[in-house]
Amino acid sequence: MNALFMQIVHHIKELKAILLQQKENGVSIGFVPTMGALHEGHLSLVRKCKQSNDITVVSIYVNPAQFNNKNDLKSYPRDSERDCKLLSSEKCNIVFIPDDKEMYPVPDTREFNFGLMEQVMEGVHRTGHFNGVAKIVSKLFEAVEPDKAYFGQKDFQQLAIIRKLVKMNHYDIEIVACPIVREKNGLAMSSRNTLLTKEQRNAAPLIFKVIKEASNNLTSHHSVKSVKEYVRNTINSNKLLKLEYYEIVERNTLKPVSEISLKIPLTACIAVYAGNIRLIDNIDIN
Ligand code: PAJ
Repeated sequence: MNALFMQIVHHIKELKAILLQQKENGVSIGFVPTMGALHEGHLSLVRKCKQSNDITVVSIYVNPAQFNNKNDLKSYPRDSERDCKLLSSEKCNIVFIPDDKEMYPVPDTREFNFGLMEQVMEGVHRTGHFNGVAKIVSKLFEAVEPDKAYFGQKDFQQLAIIRKLVKMNHYDIEIVACPIVREKNGLAMSSRNTLLTKEQRNAAPLIFKVIKEASNNLTSHHSVKSVKEYVRNTINSNKLLKLEYYEIVERNTLKPVSEISLKIPLTACIAVYAGNIRLIDNIDIN
């Protein structure tokens, strides 16, 4: 494969043919699935992928199956031309940009069961979201058959679900978790940030500030209930923000805890609305 040129592929058949040839030459394949509108968070995954694989494949596909809100799907930012320029400067090798017909030639009626993992947080507030994520990620994994796939810790619950999906389906793929990339003001980078007004953008850094503060002061709070109250009041005291949930969960099982134990790794997760824009973030506690 000519390392100087990035190939843009739209069809699974073509993608498989290119990759099969590469695999026969014994090269390693790294994969970064995305929904485009790329930012430094996505690019950090691409860079990490390039470090340990011969060929880096990035997919760009806004997957309707994982959107439980029609307006969110409609307004999701799309700019594949800009994305391709960014990926080309990162020396990405293959960009896969399918359309709906390519990914869903027939309706995908599969029902995944992730148990407790999908019955908390995003699973509660975005019904069917993880079923949609599992549908597309399984299809993409089967199209690319990568050695390693890269996911951001920004979507903490998604990462846990993907790990489970890999086990459930016996995929021979190593899942690599990548740290959250933030703006200087602490706001976790997200494609949806571009949809924020200037005022909302100024308000949004409060999200990380609060969860960081809450996790630093955990010992001085009496219970998870009081921490939750503190976070809710602080977020809602800003007129432009509205808390959807703040939850402290066991990092590996996603089980919500009502008491802080220093023995079990915990992660605090938050979802906040700025107008119609939904922002999520999380922080490891111990
Ligand atoms: P998308 O939101 O485009 O994110 C693609 C990948 O980039 C995910 O693994 C996500 O966690 C990671 N990412 C996003 N913002 C990040 C940040 N600030 N720091 C680090 N990583 C970040 O997640 C999806 O798309 C979709 O659900 C997908 C997996 C592609 C399936 O459709």
